[in-house]
Amino acid sequence: MFIQWKESFATGIAEFDDHHRKLIDLLNSSYFMIIEGNSQEELQQLLDGLLDYTRYHFEAEEAMMRAKDYRKLDEHMIEHINFTHGILSFARQARAGQQFLPIEIFDFVRNWFVMHVVTSDAEMSRAVRFR
Ligand SMILES: [Fe+2]
Ligand SMILES: [Fe+2]
Repeated sequence: MFIQWKESFATGIAEFDDHHRKLIDLLNSSYFMIIEGNSQEELQQLLDGLLDYTRYHFEAEEAMMRAKDYRKLDEHMIEHINFTHGILSFARQARAGQQFLPIEIFDFVRNWFVMHVVTSDAEMSRAVRFR
């Protein structure tokens, strides 16, 4: 498994936890489809879905932070932008037919996701849940 859901990922906001689970599913499927070299068409669809869902999830979190006047909104949004760039580059390279993507890109995606969820999303959740 590329990323395995852990209890420590739970933020306490059920909607966002569901989003994170879905993102993990999409990341895992993309990872396996790339390393197994499955059909390019299916991979494209999956990556489009991953990009759309990432955007949808980030917009949902950002709307919540804005509504609650979260003071670290800007920093949090910058992390989202960095991840979006990482995913775009991941998708671009995978689309270019690179079955053997550099390991760094997988590491980036995994590390970013895990770090962001357990630190920034957790902090955001603590701050907005009780306001
Ligand atoms: Fe976030
Ligand atoms: Fe998140």
